[in-house]
Amino acid sequence: MTALLMKFFLFVLFCYRVRGCSNDRFYPRYHLAPPFGWMNDPNGFSEYKNEFHLFYQFNPNSSHEPGIAHWGHAKSRDLFHWEHLPIAMYPDKWYDKSGVFSGSAIVENDKMFLFYTGNVNFPGQIPDHEQIQAGAVSFDGVSVKKFKNNPIINETKLQPNFRDPKVWKHKSTYYMVCGNSFKDIESNTDLGRAILFTSKDMINWNFASVLDESDGSLGYMWECPDFFELDGRFVLLFSPQGIKPFGNKYRNLYQTGYIVGDFDYNTNVFTPRTEFIELDHGHDYYATQTLLDKLKRRILVAWLDMWEQSYPERRDGWTGQMTIPRVLSLSKDNRLIQKPVKEITLARGRHLYSGRAYFGTVVTLVDKAGEISIRAPKDKDLRLIIESDGELGKVIISYDYKKGLVTLNRGGKDGIRRTKWRPQKKLYLKIYIDASSIELFYGDGEITFSSRFFPEGAVKLRVGEKSEIESMEVYTMKRTTFVNHDCDETA
Ligand code: FRU
Repeated sequence: MTALLMKFFLFVLFCYRVRGCSNDRFYPRYHLAPPFGWMNDPNGFSEYKNEFHLFYQFNPNSSHEPGIAHWGHAKSRDLFHWEHLPIAMYPDKWYDKSGVFSGSAIVENDKMFLFYTGNVNFPGQIPDHEQIQAGAVSFDGVSVKKFKNNPIINETKLQPNFRDPKVWKHKSTYYMVCGNSFKDIESNTDLGRAILFTSKDMINWNFASVLDESDGSLGYMWECPDFFELDGRFVLLFSPQGIKPFGNKYRNLYQTGYIVGDFDYNTNVFTPRTEFIELDHGHDYYATQTLLDKLKRRILVAWLDMWEQSYPERRDGWTGQMTIPRVLSLSKDNRLIQKPVKEITLARGRHLYSGRAYFGTVVTLVDKAGEISIRAPKDKDLRLIIESDGELGKVIISYDYKKGLVTLNRGGKDGIRRTKWRPQKKLYLKIYIDASSIELFYGDGEITFSSRFFPEGAVKLRVGEKSEIESMEVYTMKRTTFVNHDCDETA
């Protein structure tokens, strides 16, 4: 009864806050962000009755910290016009009382099945850190009922880091990949790995195999694993914790990357054919999740943020946002290519600029949201300055053709991210700017950078010295998200 009353109270609070709250200076115009409170990982990315559903790690009680995770929920027909729905899951059972952690969804016979990690106890609690896997079902894509048989996997041997189930079906079997860490006896250290389970009924699960594991160079824990077939190969995508920076690589606190290989459904053995490859080169890209949609597109979203940032927007009553959804494909040399979904053109607003651009060309995005498409010679440097007021409101993008290096510099401490890249014939670059984010897609989408920055006021795009742009198209982007107004928590 008390739990029911609590839920009702939170729902009323949710409706009140959805109607209008928080300062929107940094609030994304066309990316999904929480209506209020804290957002991290994408969860349960699925397509149900012709609508995309995206759940996410949500703290409705504060924008300042992740707190005890709930599952927030939004849906959209086109991946840009999102409608916020009531909280899908609360931490209201003994097995998820310390957080309804990340997980995934599958849809079958008009039912949506959700799989998630019940964070039973945080590290340091008594008993110590413990995580189980649990399931839930929705018959209408809005209200969710947790399985009576929960937990569906409760394994002492796999404690304390055992989380983030990604579930899919192949023929008549369900598969679940989870992130886990194990103690390496020789070195007496924790190492990350991705483990696979199978089931015939979604309730009873059997351990099937270790898909892959760290040899020490790939960290102590693998979060948010995903595993899927793509263009004839299999991709193991995950977010390892504990990889040390190495040159231009692994500069963020935690990474997201992938290993491409082959997989045998008869033996459940994954044979890697590549090393671990970092998927994005920006500052804020983590905990990816993919969906195979009805058009057979493998669509990816990531949390466009990173743990332990300063999160300037949290003072405005909300924190965190998702990336632009991207379609994945695999190149001949086993590299993932990411392209914004084609629906992004529905978020385009006015056509602001078209033509050549040189040192000194300036285009202003009054509402801070725009799409910039560039074609430039491959044997000339390129420098673009994206600036506005505010200490954290400037990003410099550059291409050094002699070194074959692309750089994003957002200033401040540890502001530079770069990677080697050379265009084939021409330098193609697409830049997506939103009220507090920037995403770069080089070439065909073979190199991406995703970072947050915090422009105050209009954003100016200025072409820098030595740059000669053969063609530049600029569109403003519309406000497709729910926008909060006038509730600055700093006030
Ligand atoms: C990744 C992660 C997951 C966990 C969730 C908790 O960012 O740490 O491993 O399920 O966030 O919010």
